[in-house]
Amino acid sequence: MPAHNLRARFALTVASLALALAACAGTDPGDPGPKEGTAASALAVTFHRDVEPILQRRCQACHTPGGIAPFSLLTYADAKPMHEVMVEKTQARIMPPWGAHDSDDCKMERPFVDDMRLTDDELRTIEAWSRDGAPEGDPKDAPPPAAPRAAGVTDPSFTVQPEVGFPMSGTEDRLRCFVLDPKLAATSYVSELEVVPEQKGVVHHVLVFSDPSGESRKLADATGQYDCFGGARVQGGTLVAGWVPGAEPMRLPEGVGTPLDAGALLVMQVHYHAAGGAASPPDRTALRVKLTSSPPRLHAYTQLLGNFRGTLGDSGLMPGPNDASKAEFLVPPNVKDHTETMRVVMPPKLNGVPVTNLRLLASGAHMHYVGVKETITIERAAAAPGQPAKECLLSVPRWDFDWQRSYRYALDVDALPTVNAGDRLDVRCTYDNTMGNPKLGRALRESGVSSPQPVVLGEATLDEMCLGTFTFVYAP
Ligand code: HEC
Repeated sequence: MPAHNLRARFALTVASLALALAACAGTDPGDPGPKEGTAASALAVTFHRDVEPILQRRCQACHTPGGIAPFSLLTYADAKPMHEVMVEKTQARIMPPWGAHDSDDCKMERPFVDDMRLTDDELRTIEAWSRDGAPEGDPKDAPPPAAPRAAGVTDPSFTVQPEVGFPMSGTEDRLRCFVLDPKLAATSYVSELEVVPEQKGVVHHVLVFSDPSGESRKLADATGQYDCFGGARVQGGTLVAGWVPGAEPMRLPEGVGTPLDAGALLVMQVHYHAAGGAASPPDRTALRVKLTSSPPRLHAYTQLLGNFRGTLGDSGLMPGPNDASKAEFLVPPNVKDHTETMRVVMPPKLNGVPVTNLRLLASGAHMHYVGVKETITIERAAAAPGQPAKECLLSVPRWDFDWQRSYRYALDVDALPTVNAGDRLDVRCTYDNTMGNPKLGRALRESGVSSPQPVVLGEATLDEMCLGTFTFVYAP
């Protein structure tokens, strides 16, 4: 195990111990606890009765034989040897891989679709089970087998897949773009999109962009592929959907669709994970896409906001703590809590769409390896019922480059957060440019660099970004 892992493990063990102590101290002083020789066995936390239902709900989507996680958590025999590291990773909220958590300065108020967060009770149950030596309990207490996972897009309007697969190999991650042609004769509207990875062991995440002008063809080689770290590099397109391991297919609410122009291409950006240098068979990840049968009442599109190099009026890059004279995106070496703020005072129109009662369906964060935390907040020019003057839209307090996703609100369109012209949207990013930041340390070492460098805005692995992804729903 690499040394940084060991250190993290030690720190986390101490943290979970502190938590356990806090939990004991917090018990009701009036509660005498289990009486000797009576209900002790009934009260003991067991795998089948208490832990297995949690694993079914929150872990087995990935931790199943053949799943994307490196080991299964399906049976007692699978879970028992992992109990300590399960406590460690769940207490640290590294597992399940869900980044949206409240932070001191950003508390989210609306529910999310597919929320994987463990409740405090679930966390305590896993912790208590491990502390008691991870007992199996009575198999009769086991929950019924988990319902099969929701089917994907069962009746797609079209399926597209690269003709030539990409054989992932080597020790460095790759970002590869595939140009796919859905051969649309007329403007169409995507209502569902499922990404079907073929080589699940190496496909780490996928982003799907539209390319209305067909520009991606010029970037691609004869097999319709190109390397694309940082982005697909197509202008005028939008992000149609994204996928991370364990994610459900994208499904827009009833009456909502993402327009694709006649003749538009789709660019599929796949992040391939270096599986310890082992070569994988060629991957041909496919997209199964369902179109609406008639033009939808509402349109959805995804907009990236942030990554500004300067300030324009009230919007743009805000002055930061380490700036010399003017606002500048620069994360100095060996600085741990550096912040940059990207501000957008919403204009009357964005990408040709009037900013009048735009509804925010989903949002996501994006930085590279120096980034450690991102929050997205809105200050509304005019508050309204259900639309507070100030709101935390997304808080990702432990940013992880390897687990990027979009967080979609589990609300009817009418109850989604509104965005109007004059509202102030702040994307605030925090960076840790020290060797103590494990992701950065690894990325630097892989590039043969031995100490932190000044970091600027850019596309390269060791540059940084401060972006929010916003999926808006609007009446066309
Ligand atoms: C969305 C898929 C997904 C879900 C859901 C998920 N995991 Fe994982 N888990 C992974 C992957 C993939 C890894 C490998 C490390 C990585 O890529 O981050 C992993 C790694 C781990 C590890 C780390 C092993 C090590 O030695 O570092 C533990 C422990 C773990 N998961 C426990 C859990 C538990 C407990 C749950 C549920 C409460 C859970 N995971 C839910 C995908 C998932």
